[in-house]
Amino acid sequence: MENNTNRHSFKGSIGFVLAAAGSAVGLGNIWRFPYLAARDGGGLFLLVYLILALTFGFTLLMTEVAIGRKTKQSPLTAYGKLRKKWKWLGVIACLVPAIILPYYCAIGGWVLKYLCAYLTGGGSAAAQDGYFTSFISGTIQPIIMTALFLFAVVFIILRGVNKGIESFSKVLMPVLILLVVVIAVFSLTISHTDQNGVTRTGLQGLAIYAIPNFSGMTAGRFFTILLDAMGQLFFSLSVAMGIMITYGSYLHDDAHLSASVNQIEIFDTAIAFLAGVMIIPAVFTFAGTEGMEASGPGLMFVSLPHVFAAMGPIGNLVGILFFAMVLFAALTSAISIMEAVVSSLMDQFGLSRTRATLLESGITLILSIVVCLGYNLFYFEAPLPNGTTAQILDIMDYLSNNLLMPVVAIGTCILVGWILTPDAVIEEAEKTGGKMSRKRLYRVMIRYIAPVMLFVLLLKSCGVF
Ligand code: ALA
Repeated sequence: MENNTNRHSFKGSIGFVLAAAGSAVGLGNIWRFPYLAARDGGGLFLLVYLILALTFGFTLLMTEVAIGRKTKQSPLTAYGKLRKKWKWLGVIACLVPAIILPYYCAIGGWVLKYLCAYLTGGGSAAAQDGYFTSFISGTIQPIIMTALFLFAVVFIILRGVNKGIESFSKVLMPVLILLVVVIAVFSLTISHTDQNGVTRTGLQGLAIYAIPNFSGMTAGRFFTILLDAMGQLFFSLSVAMGIMITYGSYLHDDAHLSASVNQIEIFDTAIAFLAGVMIIPAVFTFAGTEGMEASGPGLMFVSLPHVFAAMGPIGNLVGILFFAMVLFAALTSAISIMEAVVSSLMDQFGLSRTRATLLESGITLILSIVVCLGYNLFYFEAPLPNGTTAQILDIMDYLSNNLLMPVVAIGTCILVGWILTPDAVIEEAEKTGGKMSRKRLYRVMIRYIAPVMLFVLLLKSCGVF
């Protein structure tokens, strides 16, 4: 195991918060949050999400950062250090980022392709029907773009915790926030009259997004909204992926843990909310409520290019700003995903950073090529237990996000809530004098509410209901 006294650490809490927020703010915030909000009752979803972020999200985030800082280990070895018999949980927690990284890089490659298209004035081509499908079903181009994205991640990881992750986060995150705010404000100022003479404005779109819609509300529908918000929060906060344990292990002992955790939560939730302000009013203005039905790749790579094309000459510039922003968000998240694995290899096998990074990037490159070819040579459609059909990318997403992540989170709640007891985390949070906020809530959440909610989420993922 790596000698803990040699372990790198973030220079300050700001570096930690920006790196962790950079990890949290990613594709999940941009392509899934706005769609879920629009589908699940607008402001009602936002309210449910906010309450969950302050309770459930806070509990998981606090726990993982505290485990990392207490053990000074990355996930693969951290759980075993807490309790020898729980080493298996660390193995799963390390497997999750290893599965996510290849497909995250593939999507990062798509974002890069679109940014290049807009930078070279090809925005109107990107809005043509079939552009996205023909790009991803190609052989060479998606692989090259994916490899370029992966190389950018590897370059930063090789520079280490301070000169790489911390320094880049300190530059990329402020630029990302600026871009999000500029695009969101722009989105609110637009209006458009369609061929039927109907005029829609960005502010009307904002109302659909932000005002709670209780029409047709039943207990069953509310339950669905609750589970949607929980699943989203989980991926969005980068918990149960080993990341927050890894970043926590780089946090100085004198940093105020609960204040830092609060800042990460605020950051992630604010950007997710602003992503909706960027996207929903623009899509509503140019494509009406039907346009808001797309999510994931369909929203980002098909609907939005149409919206940008409909904006006229300024659309190309908006496209550049938008895809640059998404690229930064994806990059800071991918860095954290790879770091969780690299750091685990270093801690477990005593590898140098360079060796661990090269090993992990080699595996990722091969797997991401397989993911890219999942739309070409290896194309097939498999049914999943949750009722959807999937290609290789979706299967890897389902396996990590829907199955393994809830298992890691449930295991963490049981280990901390019942075996170590919540006091272990509270003591870690308060060891340098700062008081931990929401302590009583934390105790109840980690022992009872969070594991039960997670178990229900897992059952839903398995298609039990
Ligand atoms: N938290 C990251 C995202 O939302 C992984 O994309």
